[in-house]
Amino acid sequence: MNQFRAIASYLKCSTIFGAAFFLFSSCSADGGTGSGSILPMGQISYDSIHLYNAETVNLGRKLFFDKRLSVNNTVACASCHLPALAFTDGRKKAVGINNNATMRNAPTLLNVEYQPHFMFDGAVPTLEMQALVPLKDTNEMGNDIQQLIEKLRHVPEYQQLAKSLYAREFDAFVLTRALGSFQRSLISQNSPFDQWFYHADEHAVSGSVKNGYRIFSDKLYCASCHPAPTFTTYDILSNGRDSLSNDEGLYRITGLTKDIGKFKIPTLRNIALTGPYMHDGSVQSLREVIHYYAKGGDGHPNQDQRIISFDLSDEEIKDLLDFFESLTDTSLITSY
Ligand code: HEC
Ligand code: HEC
Repeated sequence: MNQFRAIASYLKCSTIFGAAFFLFSSCSADGGTGSGSILPMGQISYDSIHLYNAETVNLGRKLFFDKRLSVNNTVACASCHLPALAFTDGRKKAVGINNNATMRNAPTLLNVEYQPHFMFDGAVPTLEMQALVPLKDTNEMGNDIQQLIEKLRHVPEYQQLAKSLYAREFDAFVLTRALGSFQRSLISQNSPFDQWFYHADEHAVSGSVKNGYRIFSDKLYCASCHPAPTFTTYDILSNGRDSLSNDEGLYRITGLTKDIGKFKIPTLRNIALTGPYMHDGSVQSLREVIHYYAKGGDGHPNQDQRIISFDLSDEEIKDLLDFFESLTDTSLITSY
């Protein structure tokens, strides 16, 4: 199935791009997912030559946890994306080599392959291309990519796997594709909420969770931006948060005043594990998130009009928090 998917995707994309080889030409395809998705989570964006199987995932996993991927061998991808925290790091803002602070809060990587664009400002179009950002960023892993490739070619296991899986020397293509494969395997869709809502197991969650979901999707407006099953539309807009961090979001890419303070809507899957919240980690708890929306946002000039104030009873707040908890799927998180 996966092999078929890879071949189908390759053919579909290669007719578009002909024989020309681009390290990062991309196209999209419908179909299955890394680990065989059951839920309709959306379209997947593939690279033009995308190979996905157990071995490429395995190589990607080794690379993801390898500190040699940073210039001074101290930071791995997994240093900021810890499996136990749904591939986040529990910090306000992530910390890279030499304890350098980065600009933003580390997002979850679970279900990341469904994203149509990456980063809080959506600036990066493919998952494979994204890996180059932390690898090169002076505050994250601090590499020159050519020097990094030289270094990793001297790891016999990487060189051997590159040859046997991709029929080429270990290079940036192998590095980004293997990391992509591993991340594409991080499908999370077996939370108690899923067992109840999608698999009709009425006992999987409490009455409070069911009521919390009704509040989230019917009484309030949350589901217009955070709809099931991914709990995001991936749109880039302002939820009104008036950032104290001088991070202007989408404006950094477009230079348009109307884009100041706009960030990609995050998924709420595994949200109980991924705090602190927002692009700058400025909101500590989910209870505080509810208070933030209940007051109608910070009133940022570009705040989306859907965000308006509301009143909830203590009971309703508890139900909403229980619903958030029900989105935790531990099946992938505990297996590393
Ligand atoms: C120093 C901490 C740090 C390291 C190391 C790190 N990341 Fe991240 N990662 C982040 C932060 C912070 C963001 C959000 C960046 C932004 O939006 O500008 C992020 C974003 C991402 C995203 C985009 C997710 C989304 O929702 O758009 C992916 C994918 C990702 N990282 C994968 C990786 C991979 C693969 C590696 C290793 C090659 C890696 N990260 C290394 C901190 C880190
Ligand atoms: C108009 C779209 C929109 C609506 C409506 C909306 N949100 Fe959000 N939500 C966002 C955006 C955008 C962010 C990210 C903001 C940032 O990074 O600064 C976000 C962030 C969050 C986060 C933090 C996620 C994380 O990983 O940091 C939670 C939790 C959340 N919203 C819950 C809710 C709830 C509950 C409601 C309903 C009361 C709601 N949202 C309504 C757009 C929306």
